[in-house]
Amino acid sequence: MNLKVLVLPGDGIGEEVTHQAVRVLRRIADKFHHNLELAEGLLGGIAIHKTGTPLPEETLRLAGAADATLMGAVGLPEFDQAPPEKRPEKGLLGLRKALGVYANLRPVRAYASLLDSSPLKNHLVEGTDMIIVRELTGGIYYGTPRGIMENGAETRAVNTMTYTRSEIERVSRVAFHLARARRKKVTSVDKSNVLENSQLWRRVAIEVAKEFPDVALDHLLVDNCAMQLILNPRRFDVVLTENMFGDILSDEGAVLAGSIGMLPSASIGDKRPSGAWVGLYEPVHGSAPDIAGQNKANPLGAIGSVAAMLSYSFGLKEEASAVDAAIEAVLRSGHVTADLRPSGAPATTEQVGESVCVAIG
Ligand code: IPM
Ligand code: MG
Repeated sequence: MNLKVLVLPGDGIGEEVTHQAVRVLRRIADKFHHNLELAEGLLGGIAIHKTGTPLPEETLRLAGAADATLMGAVGLPEFDQAPPEKRPEKGLLGLRKALGVYANLRPVRAYASLLDSSPLKNHLVEGTDMIIVRELTGGIYYGTPRGIMENGAETRAVNTMTYTRSEIERVSRVAFHLARARRKKVTSVDKSNVLENSQLWRRVAIEVAKEFPDVALDHLLVDNCAMQLILNPRRFDVVLTENMFGDILSDEGAVLAGSIGMLPSASIGDKRPSGAWVGLYEPVHGSAPDIAGQNKANPLGAIGSVAAMLSYSFGLKEEASAVDAAIEAVLRSGHVTADLRPSGAPATTEQVGESVCVAIG
């Protein structure tokens, strides 16, 4: 098979972790005899520095031409004071929108060998296995009107949380389809006791559930969900939620997995005629400028994103399983990066990438 992949390393540790992820992708392509066609592009702070914009036209063109895009992370401290329009993050938001990847899949698993890495008690996190389905191209991230209105004595700032019925429907269907292949339970998360936007969300989730009578649906308010994630994470199978709630809850989920460095994600849109999904794959973590360039970052979230790419965009289940199994083998070996608090000397980013490749064989 021909695998046409665009790599966008982005900022901070993005470059280091995508380097290892690409290395793993090459290993898979070699072993399973696929042809890898790689391109590289600019996104985020590095793109602002080199071209003046966080999402250059050329990057959009490359992403449109690729079957799948693998991204590292965006964000640099020198842009902390910049308005949203001029920030590295704007590049990522623009790319998600341009690709139309409206469903962001963030699996959260407590690996047995990482139970001690979580600050939570083992018996609470043990067996956790959920997937957060976060709406990714709507809601308050994109709603208008927005802005800071400087108006004489009193300045006002506005953001708008907006969803249409069809936006909620399509992401809900993704969640229900996923649940069918899992434990058949969707938990829809909203704030319908306060927000009209959430009332529509809940109403549409209930309607879509009727198309999936074999899947159970329940609802949680987002504040309660934040608590239940810690108190009783095993109760969750598929978590369906809007953009900003999903952003927040998935970082919380990272604590269950031991480290945010572990979490992969897949952002998918509609299927292409070939049956493959348009996909953007990125670890959940940020650019971590404090440890950038030090060969310390955990590449397993990025490497797990390669597994997701193989599975969703290319339908290569065996290859995806080979990557996942290799990640587990490396975790069991205990030679992992510092964020996972290994008992011995921590491994470097490169060593972990190398170990995954060796484990793939
Ligand atoms: C994420 C990140 C992004 C988001 C930022 C970098 C814009 O936090 O993917 O979770 O908020 O979506
Ligand atoms: Mg986030």
